[in-house]
Amino acid sequence: MFFIIPCITREIHRISKGTRARMMWLLLPMLFLTAKCTSRADYSGQKVCRFHTDNFTEVVNLVQNFQQDPVDVWARSPRFIDVRVSHEAATKLEGCEVIIEDLAKTIEDTYPHEADNMKSLEQQLFEQSAPQDVFFDQFRDLDTIYAWLDLIQLTFPDLVKIEWVGQTFEGRDMKALHISAGNTELNPDKKTIVITGGVHAREWIGVSTACYMIHNLLTGYGVNKKETRYLDHLDFLIIPVFNPDGYVYSWTHDRLWRKNRQQTYFPRCFGIDIDHSFDFHWTGSQNFPCSEDYSGESPFEALEAESWNNYINMTKSEYTIHGYLDLHSYSQEVLYPYGYSCEALPRDLENLLELSYGLAKAIRKKSGKNYHVLSSCEDRGSDLTPGLGSGSALDYMYHHRAHWAFQLKLRDTGNHGFLLPPKFILPVGKEAYAALKYFCDFILNPEL
Ligand SMILES: *[C@@H]1O[C@H](CO)[C@@H](O)[C@H](O)[C@H]1NC(C)=O
Ligand SMILES: *[C@@H]1O[C@H](CO)[C@@H](O)[C@H](O)[C@H]1NC(C)=O
Ligand SMILES: [Zn+2]
Repeated sequence: MFFIIPCITREIHRISKGTRARMMWLLLPMLFLTAKCTSRADYSGQKVCRFHTDNFTEVVNLVQNFQQDPVDVWARSPRFIDVRVSHEAATKLEGCEVIIEDLAKTIEDTYPHEADNMKSLEQQLFEQSAPQDVFFDQFRDLDTIYAWLDLIQLTFPDLVKIEWVGQTFEGRDMKALHISAGNTELNPDKKTIVITGGVHAREWIGVSTACYMIHNLLTGYGVNKKETRYLDHLDFLIIPVFNPDGYVYSWTHDRLWRKNRQQTYFPRCFGIDIDHSFDFHWTGSQNFPCSEDYSGESPFEALEAESWNNYINMTKSEYTIHGYLDLHSYSQEVLYPYGYSCEALPRDLENLLELSYGLAKAIRKKSGKNYHVLSSCEDRGSDLTPGLGSGSALDYMYHHRAHWAFQLKLRDTGNHGFLLPPKFILPVGKEAYAALKYFCDFILNPEL
């Protein structure tokens, strides 16, 4: 497929914008490569339990009676704690409400199947129904997403530039999409909104949602009033896959992988939690390198966090970042800073809260889904266990660069957890995009 791209470039430049957008979707099926792997981690017999408590230590201790491996905590909020456990543990653990009965099956349902791809292809070529939906029919692997970004750049050459952020431990590129109408009159300060997805590898819905936002902003420009206004007055910097190594690993080896794939001091254990690696109130976790939220031994040890700091700090130093949105899953929450401590008050709290509730309301109006608004420190339990919420991208961006910053934890509330089936890609994309529109409106009109 890579030899096709240069050939179509010339053609694409000769045709009109509207036709260009349509043409892009027609070319898409050529990009669909199915990741094949024979030896993915096997989760048969495992389940996910929900405990209706906020006593984290108690839950972890309970679960540890049944297993030696570090406990895989899926979610912790003031209302509940979700943990992956063995079948045996699920039946014996007091207070366990099983929310995922058959983990292996739920995992399997998140990968694309050959048949689905073929169906999309045919639909695309012969029925031509809703072509824009095809890319968002399934979750996409890294190669497909990067090829899609290339195609986006080809299709919207006056608006889009792919930028290199850095290199991962396994040698992959971290890529940002810089969207700018280059309108120096309307956007003299280079006001920018930054969106990141996929900091945690298994949170695929964050990646697809970032792509969906790219798609809507670009196809709406010059067509819809809102998008035209946004792109004329704002730049966007979107990194759909912040953790490329981890993302690939979640496709090929282990659907539940969360960290990056960097070597640690302990030979058997790979990976640093990028979201604990940023140099703002960084605290070394007491955790072993095998654990899911291992912070590394020093700030910015995670290459992705370090590269991001250099990129945003040096390459993008003249851009004024007004908004930051970090897409995660799951729990349906709008989280505002700070994460490292509940005692640290964010500046301008009243407006920050108003904006948080505004984002949640925009989602509710779009899809009827409820997103809870809370401080990131509560979600991370850092008021009870200091250190747990430290070194996050949210805190770092809020403190150093962004006027307004949020982490959006997307769907669902536990029925699938990280394993949202692909049919939710569009509904989640749409509701999150409604939040992004509210965010842009707010930034362009602080009186809102
Ligand atoms: C949590 O549970 C542990 C024992 O499992 C107990 O010692 C501790 O006091 C509890 N913490 C709170 C805040 O209730
Ligand atoms: C870049 O990072 C360094 C070190 O963290 C800091 O001292 C400096 O102020 C930063 N510069 C900008 C423009 O943010
Ligand atoms: Zn996450």
